Amino acid sequence: MVDFNETLWEIDEHTKAKHTILDKYLKAWFPILSKKSSTLVYIDGFAGPGEYKGGEPGSPIIALKAALEHKHKDKFKKIAFWFIECRDDRCEHLRNKIASLGDLPSNFHVEVTCGRFDEELSKILDELEREGASLNPTFCFVDPFGYTETGGPKILGKILKFPKCEVLLTYMVGFMDRGAYDPDKCKTICREWDFSEEDINKIINTKSMESREMQWIDALKNKLIKASGSDLRHLAFCVKGYNNRTLYYLVYFTKHIKGIEVMKEAMFKTGKTGQYKFSDYNFKQTNLLDYSNELWQNECADIIYEHFRGSIQKTEDVKNWVILETPYIWRSGILIKLEEEGKITRVIGRPRRFTYPDNAYIEFK
Ligand SMILES: C[S@@+](CC[C@H](N)C(=O)[O-])C[C@H]1O[C@@H](n2cnc3c(N)ncnc32)[C@H](O)[C@@H]1O
Repeated sequence: MVDFNETLWEIDEHTKAKHTILDKYLKAWFPILSKKSSTLVYIDGFAGPGEYKGGEPGSPIIALKAALEHKHKDKFKKIAFWFIECRDDRCEHLRNKIASLGDLPSNFHVEVTCGRFDEELSKILDELEREGASLNPTFCFVDPFGYTETGGPKILGKILKFPKCEVLLTYMVGFMDRGAYDPDKCKTICREWDFSEEDINKIINTKSMESREMQWIDALKNKLIKASGSDLRHLAFCVKGYNNRTLYYLVYFTKHIKGIEVMKEAMFKTGKTGQYKFSDYNFKQTNLLDYSNELWQNECADIIYEHFRGSIQKTEDVKNWVILETPYIWRSGILIKLEEEGKITRVIGRPRRFTYPDNAYIEFK
């Protein structure tokens, strides 16, 4: 049994999956946003000690290394890493782990704050509000053990209000879904996420578990849309435990299609089914999705054709449709397949055969 009271605890397979997603995403996020912004902010609001019992790196070290070991790191401008952790022993361990990385480049600004995420964020966000200032492009990782202390829509919504700010949340759907029948836990859930008891009753009276899980996510998204006043998009990665029960969803909220595109790549490559599901239960039995296997591309080609047959579309619109409306990631090879099968009859505005620039027009048979 893992003891979460010790300074360090043992890592499990689903945490490794979470870390893989974080690592893959940040390796893309740092260079993309560095091109456009003079300062990027990475907040890890529930940072932990930076290490697991077996020596595996914790999320703060994964984030630092994603930037530090990046092949384009010399082109990065300022990156401010802000790690918040409420326990003194874990803060101290984290500071030592960061020190063990050696001298960091001068454009890396690292701060470990021993405090509570909601209180620390409130201070900064209130100050920005008073000054009428904006938050720099920020990726905020919110990774609590349970479903409380995140600051809920009040804090997360305020972060999402700013342009180019996004949130990756460990959202304890499984625990909430099982706990919501208990009146005390139901009150706690309502307080945390600003849900009404009516919202919760509607969810827990739905029979299908999968549909309840989607409703938990939608309910939160609606609260965040209201609190941020922004048109949010989201992606969710389901994490199951050894008994194949849902533990939590890793939910990513952003306002930008590019963010969805990049996070989808990270989740797709980490998941096995292409539907962003990862389960410790399956882990023992199957290998990770063979990403080079082209079967998923055939399925994606079929649904593109079903959706667009008989029409002319801009490549960019087809691509965005795949990114936003299907479980698949984007590969231009999918269009090559359709063209070879005669399902694309013409492409207007391209330099060479079998190329599909964003602004070219594709005629579907
Ligand atoms: C799930 S662990 C974080 C693991 C870490 N993100 C990782 O992936 O390596 C949650 C951490 O949040 C800390 N914590 C709990 N409540 C907190 C709060 N209100 N504010 C900040 N940290 C908190 C806990 O002490 C614990 O270290």
